[in-house]
Amino acid sequence: MSPDNTTLLYFSPTATTRIILEEIAKGIGKDVLAAIDITKSEIRTQAPPEFGDDLVLIGAPVYGGRLSKDAANYFKTVRASGSPVVLVVLYGNREFDDALLELKNITVDCGFAPLAAGAFIGEHSLSNNEFTIALNRPDEDDLEKAFSFGKQIAGLLGRLENMADLTSVNVPGNFPYKKGMPVSSFPFIDVTDDCDDCGICVTVCPKNAIDETNTWSTIDEHCIYCCACVKVCPRQARILKDSPLRDKAEIISKNCTRRKEPQIFLPEMRS
Ligand SMILES: Cc1cc2nc3c(=O)[nH]c(=O)nc-3n(C[C@H](O)[C@H](O)[C@H](O)COP(=O)(O)O)c2cc1C
Repeated sequence: MSPDNTTLLYFSPTATTRIILEEIAKGIGKDVLAAIDITKSEIRTQAPPEFGDDLVLIGAPVYGGRLSKDAANYFKTVRASGSPVVLVVLYGNREFDDALLELKNITVDCGFAPLAAGAFIGEHSLSNNEFTIALNRPDEDDLEKAFSFGKQIAGLLGRLENMADLTSVNVPGNFPYKKGMPVSSFPFIDVTDDCDDCGICVTVCPKNAIDETNTWSTIDEHCIYCCACVKVCPRQARILKDSPLRDKAEIISKNCTRRKEPQIFLPEMRS
């Protein structure tokens, strides 16, 4: 099989998912036809794409052991006609639990044919100066692994005549899935006097949760705690308030210090 093009489809508030998908695509070595970044809510309200023969790389972060809800809800609307797909989740060195299985099940229901899957590690969204978690990941080593995963995918495609020649891609996870993030909303961000109202936080928020006329105010019911606004702030003026998630950041920073490595899942060739 030799799909002519690759398309990337991802939700990635703090960019680690995007970086890994791009590196895998480099390893595959085909032209990237389109990069569909569904992080901003405006994009998620547009008509979803339909895929034919091209190879698609789909990625999203793990939130509470599940796929981020906004990504999952959007992916469910995409249609494909047997298109080969590479499934990728990014997680912050705790666990990816049921997220990759969820991504696989959603994409199969949409009509994709999973070709390979991977769980990679990105700096935890909640990581900050006080509680560091998977700081600066993906790093050089992760990028090398993503590139070599891409090469393996290219090799697999080269040997393959038909997707039916492959066994199913087995990924870890349980169904019914774990509950995921609680739906409760609570104040999460404090803005310090260092804020100069530059507005960059407004532009990166995937949920339009920051009032553009008053960047000091966050709409708690919209916020998904992704920390895009915290990480992008050039003056480090957005900080985590005392909240259940700040407590979680402290616990994870203490309990999840052992470095986890990317895991990849490839199918077998049927004999
Ligand atoms: C609300 C929330 C929940 C998260 N839950 C998990 C989790 O269950 N396990 C984990 O290891 N990382 C978890 N993370 C960390 C992200 O999965 C990780 O930082 C990821 O690299 C972010 O992807 P992005 O850079 O593409 O936004 C969570 C992050 C947030 C914001």
